[in-house]
Amino acid sequence: MPEHSGPAFHGVAASPVGAWLRHRSRPALATHLAPAVRCRYRRFVQSRQPNFLEVSDAQAQAANRSDWDREADDYQAEHGEFLRDTGFIWSPEGLDEADASFLGDVAGSRVLEVGSGAGQCSRWLLAQGAEVVAFDLSWRQLQHSRRLDLKTSVAVPAVCATATALPFAGESFDVACSAFGALPFLIDIDKALFEVASVLRPGGQFVFSVVHPLRRVFPDDPTEAGLTVTRSYFDRTPYVETDDEGNLTYVEPHHTLSDWISAIQAAGLTLERLVEPDWPHGHDRVWGGWGPVRGQLVPGTAIFVTHVAG
Ligand SMILES: C[S@@+](CC[C@H](N)C(=O)[O-])C[C@H]1O[C@@H](n2cnc3c(N)ncnc32)[C@H](O)[C@@H]1O
Repeated sequence: MPEHSGPAFHGVAASPVGAWLRHRSRPALATHLAPAVRCRYRRFVQSRQPNFLEVSDAQAQAANRSDWDREADDYQAEHGEFLRDTGFIWSPEGLDEADASFLGDVAGSRVLEVGSGAGQCSRWLLAQGAEVVAFDLSWRQLQHSRRLDLKTSVAVPAVCATATALPFAGESFDVACSAFGALPFLIDIDKALFEVASVLRPGGQFVFSVVHPLRRVFPDDPTEAGLTVTRSYFDRTPYVETDDEGNLTYVEPHHTLSDWISAIQAAGLTLERLVEPDWPHGHDRVWGGWGPVRGQLVPGTAIFVTHVAG
């Protein structure tokens, strides 16, 4: 088990993740761009250098796993109250599955949560009577999941795995869901969507939320200053961060709307609805680049409601 700072939590079920984790990358960066280029879902770490650079999916996953392990404590401290220990929040707009009901009645259904973090969504699904299995790439996030199991006395069965190589039998779930889990951090979304579709039974549903593709054209600034387009929507070069030695520490890829729809179709999924949640009136919580200023003008989240033909 990898070393972590901070308190240890015990009892997390886990399976080994791929050997790619051992291959650290050292991309040669010609220039370091100004902070205005930051384009990050999570809080920016000041010591990191932001840039845009082509990297492989394996490099992105290795960097992001370490990043989530490193940042999980701060992430849960910052967003845990908003997410609620037993709550299913789809996005920074605060859209709640209890109101949206994208998944319908899940009582008695076998549900897989993709990139489950501290398992808040899974815990809510358990409370609705679903049979749930959750997985996440980050050990530290899974340790927080275990912490919330103990705090709430509602235990989420969670394993350590990556969305591009699922350790589950084919057609073993009725429903899969993901609230910003795994998919916004993957370059190979085709592989991940194919993997999720494979473990769903015919007719099974997959609903997932991601960073809205339009978000990429704006800098990471929730104020008026962040309303000027600074990147081409069509430039898929991933946003990356590196440490002082040039090691890749974080990657956030960009996929356009048509990239997502093509990947959904290629995986054998049918798109039922694309939801772009409104920024609710009076909701003033800022989450990275998300906030009421930009939220009232352009969408920050895309939610894809899909199912396997059958
Ligand atoms: C924004 S959190 C989503 C969890 C929860 N819904 C929330 O809002 O906190 C993103 C999660 O995706 C996980 N993740 C990133 N890449 C992944 C991958 N390739 N496979 C599985 N999980 C991954 C991260 O470790 C993190 O816990």
